[in-house]
Amino acid sequence: MSDRFARGFSTLEQEITCDRLPVKGTVPGWLAGTLLRNGPGKFEIGKQNYHHWFDGLAMLHRFSFRNGEVSYANRFLRSSPYTEGVEKGKIRYSEFATDPCRSLFKRLATVFAPPDRAPIDNANVNIIRLAGTFIALTETPIPVQFDPQTLTTAHPHYDPVLHAGINYLTHLSARSSYNVYAFDAHGRRLIGSHAVQEPAYMHSFGMTEHYVILVEFPLVVNPLSILLSGKPFIENFVWKPERGARFLVMSKQDGNIVGTYESEAFFAFHHINAFEQDGDLLVDVAAFPDASIIRQLYLGNLLGPKGGVLTESEYRRYRLPAGGATARYERLSEESIELPRINYEQNNGHEYRFAYGVSQQKAHPDDFLNQLVKVDVIQHSTKTWFEEDSYPGEPVFVAAPDATGEDEGVILSVVLDGQRGRSFLLVLDAASFAELARAEVPHTIPFGFHGIYAR
Ligand SMILES: [Fe+2]
Repeated sequence: MSDRFARGFSTLEQEITCDRLPVKGTVPGWLAGTLLRNGPGKFEIGKQNYHHWFDGLAMLHRFSFRNGEVSYANRFLRSSPYTEGVEKGKIRYSEFATDPCRSLFKRLATVFAPPDRAPIDNANVNIIRLAGTFIALTETPIPVQFDPQTLTTAHPHYDPVLHAGINYLTHLSARSSYNVYAFDAHGRRLIGSHAVQEPAYMHSFGMTEHYVILVEFPLVVNPLSILLSGKPFIENFVWKPERGARFLVMSKQDGNIVGTYESEAFFAFHHINAFEQDGDLLVDVAAFPDASIIRQLYLGNLLGPKGGVLTESEYRRYRLPAGGATARYERLSEESIELPRINYEQNNGHEYRFAYGVSQQKAHPDDFLNQLVKVDVIQHSTKTWFEEDSYPGEPVFVAAPDATGEDEGVILSVVLDGQRGRSFLLVLDAASFAELARAEVPHTIPFGFHGIYAR
């Protein structure tokens, strides 16, 4: 077990507010907004432990910027698992890979809890803004609202033409389906539905100007098994590589499936971007050769003797040719990439040049994700930020005011300094990838997932 990054998987009980973090370097004066981040903050309740990185109780972190100064606050999301768990001293709700329910009766009660008692709302994955309100998201159907000032699903897209969010829900039943819908502050509208016998685990999806692209990895579930098996959610999914992967292309206009493409088996959590080019669709993903990464992210493995050795996720571009039925890929970088981000506002759904992410240095194969990467997919070049025993999280791009260049702005990333046992907010110049500043937090922020920057 490596004690350098193990702290990133340990509980942070303290909720604090710091009006002014110590800053080294210079935070650009134009940075005047708030970075909100989400992730697990607590990995056990009483004597019971959560088993997987994705299970921990959601904690929100807020970094606010003003005149080169940085303030910080963190709060647990007051979800049912948090409030009832802390009150009773027991894990009360089933999560991604941890299931406290022992009997079938309890399992049924958990899955079919009435709407006023949401089965799971430990929304620890992402944050979006909807009509001025911030929503914390996970992969269950019930997003949790919170107030960013008091810090009180997981990868939707935003469609600037429809002025609406786009997301999908997998409906699990004897007649399962993938349902794609548009949503705004007034509610949601079904765009299209696709029947499926054995639904796949899909953590995100791609969206171009006219299409939604669902990639059905061969990690699939018999819907009844989730109900009856007695296993935690993700352990019901079975890797069936003989199926290969399937790209479903749905028209945003009428919800029809306009193309289906097959490829070799692979798995991904995250789409990077997708766009249309001369009738073809190009779909960029952070791809794993199989789904073993899910098992590698169990806390017992991450903190075990093999440390954080993770399968490499490749930056792949799949081409879906007009009128074709087969998707083939090329690799866009030699570096691995995960928790990918782009200049979303300017480039999502369109041709783009730069992506940012975390990866693992090849020279440190027994380490956890330990560097930031910037990939130029046009020039096929990569820049990295690395510091010994430091573990950066998802890099969020913030465009400079009146920016014209795609990478004109800064990158914000929360980094664990494994030697000092403290985290800091790193500010990089997005173009050069040079450090501009770091603001030190007085504790370790457990490794999180996603966040947003709000002006
Ligand atoms: Fe994610």
